[in-house]
Amino acid sequence: MSDTPDAAAAGTFDLDGETTVNRLGFGAMRLCGQGIVGAPDDEGNARAVARAAVDHGVDFVDTADSYGPGTSERLLREAGVVDDAVVATKAGLLREAGGDWLPHGDPDYIRNQVLVSKDRLGVDTIDLYQFHRPDPDTPFADSVAAFAELKDEGHVDHVGLSNVTVEQLDEAREHVEVATVQNQYNVANREDEAVLRACEDADAGFVPWFPLAAGDLGAVGDALDDVAAGHDATRRQVALAWLLGHSDVTLPIPGTSSVEHLRENVAAAELSLSDEEPAGSRTPASRTATASQAARQERRSIPTTANTASRATSEPTTSAALGANTSP
Ligand SMILES: NC(=O)c1ccc[n+]([C@@H]2O[C@H](COP(=O)([O-])OP(=O)(O)OC[C@H]3O[C@@H](n4cnc5c(N)ncnc54)[C@H](OP(=O)(O)O)[C@@H]3O)[C@@H](O)[C@H]2O)c1
Repeated sequence: MSDTPDAAAAGTFDLDGETTVNRLGFGAMRLCGQGIVGAPDDEGNARAVARAAVDHGVDFVDTADSYGPGTSERLLREAGVVDDAVVATKAGLLREAGGDWLPHGDPDYIRNQVLVSKDRLGVDTIDLYQFHRPDPDTPFADSVAAFAELKDEGHVDHVGLSNVTVEQLDEAREHVEVATVQNQYNVANREDEAVLRACEDADAGFVPWFPLAAGDLGAVGDALDDVAAGHDATRRQVALAWLLGHSDVTLPIPGTSSVEHLRENVAAAELSLSDEEPAGSRTPASRTATASQAARQERRSIPTTANTASRATSEPTTSAALGANTSP
């Protein structure tokens, strides 16, 4: 793999017929301090990581108002990332100093937060505004309607969802065009395979958060290492290449606070896995496809080795996956 990796090697995804992004993105949650609360010890390093992402061709960056809160969005603006990438932010979770993540999908709150995020990011329009997590105390349709209104009013270009079921995706699409769905998904945890396939059918991008399972990849680690050895790659690069090859609508957003790790992750865009490899799903004939093209392609089989291992590491809840107070 090259010394100057370029996310463009992952191919592109077309968000709306006009906005195209490289499929390997960057998750900016890990730019924050401990427990995703407040600033990191070294803000200069955080800005350097964000800057390195765009310098290596990443033009799809994920963040949220609740990361810090506010810290991640602020750092992205300070790093100049907002001008050079599609920035996908989110609303719908409250924070408190102890680090808890509290769902809050009240429409008035969402309307307030879009103004806060626009100011913090320094933009007139938010590229992609995602509903972070359904709120059990607010009807899902009411929250989604607020996002739809914000799009109609020109505050946001695209609306996305996060942490939703297939049924919620279908319900949301009755109110607004859904550009992306962001759910927990990786080679070791494919519980939301049905949501991914629903995104293909809906011409929506699927943004797998926790794409590296925080870097370890648990029970599939050994299988990934075997594949990686044949490519002079790392298990994390194989995990990202697997996501890119598994469907044409995936937009992985690996998170890191390290420029070195960022480069390693972007280099995964150059890695193609073959069908014969245990962790590989297929050889991508073309990684450049619109969602509608992808939806027409036949469903891919799920490899036995990694699938078996995935059950051993599947996480039923977000908090279990990430540890207390680490992430929504
Ligand atoms: N929608 C949601 O509810 C939700 C929830 C969680 C996250 N997200 C989004 O998804 C993004 C990705 O998820 P994530 O950050 O939780 O998990 P991840 O990308 O699977 O893993 C990130 C972790 O892996 C480590 N790592 C990354 N690259 C590495 C490498 N090359 N070598 C060794 N370790 C490496 C990082 O540590 P270092 O800092 O040391 O590199 C970091 O702790 C987040 O940044 C955020 O934008 C969304």
